[in-house]
Amino acid sequence: VLVLPTSADVARRAAEVVLEGLAAARGAGPVLGLATGSSPLGLYAELAGAVRAGRLDLSAATGFALDEYVGLPAGHPQTYREVLLREVCAPLGLAPERLHVPDGSGRTEQELVAAAAEYERLITEAGGVDVQILGIGANGHLGFNEPGSSLSSRTRVKRLSDRTRHDNARFFDGPDDVPTHCVTQGLGTVLDARRLVLVASGPTKAAAIAAALEGPLSASCPASVLQWHPDATAVLDEAAATQLR
Ligand code: F6R
Repeated sequence: VLVLPTSADVARRAAEVVLEGLAAARGAGPVLGLATGSSPLGLYAELAGAVRAGRLDLSAATGFALDEYVGLPAGHPQTYREVLLREVCAPLGLAPERLHVPDGSGRTEQELVAAAAEYERLITEAGGVDVQILGIGANGHLGFNEPGSSLSSRTRVKRLSDRTRHDNARFFDGPDDVPTHCVTQGLGTVLDARRLVLVASGPTKAAAIAAALEGPLSASCPASVLQWHPDATAVLDEAAATQLR
């Protein structure tokens, strides 16, 4: 657990942890697991700086998103595919054809279940994720694994909690426009990544961070699975770390 004064420091330090993990990656190109939301934006900007400085080359890399909303039209600016095309592919030089995002466009349960299974297959085919970047929900969710999620879950359809829909309403015209469901990597899927890097800033994350890092390993705080992982780093600013003992 690394605690730093500001969110800018968090972005810089987390970028170093990611770079180190990518440098250790074996295989043809590194496999990067990508979170969306506000938390990793500074980290992505730092990684873009490393690309410009010649310290990072993602031209042969593959990216896997953590999750995707169900039911948004293709090309909607808040689909996580579009967000990652903007925030990661363009600035970091990750080829769009090697960006994988769960397919949330299915209209039936069967289609969505098949898309989730296909996503697991693609991750396995790529050799697994080398470095998984993570944020944490104010309710302790990881990916969109809301409280109560099985600790061994795989990619699947989940209903978003009212808290998460409320928190994410800032990206939409209002809370009612936030989709009700998503396809998310499971906690078991996340745990399979070889390195986990969680970034969190600000006081709204303090309670979730304390529960995740110092509470019991429990489905009531999905991010507590980090305690189970042999190579997990949480990079926090002081505001997010205030409830740690
Ligand atoms: C996003 C994701 C979520 C976010 C979390 C925090 O892909 O899986 O777990 O990391 O909701 O969101 P922000 O960073 O916007 O506070």
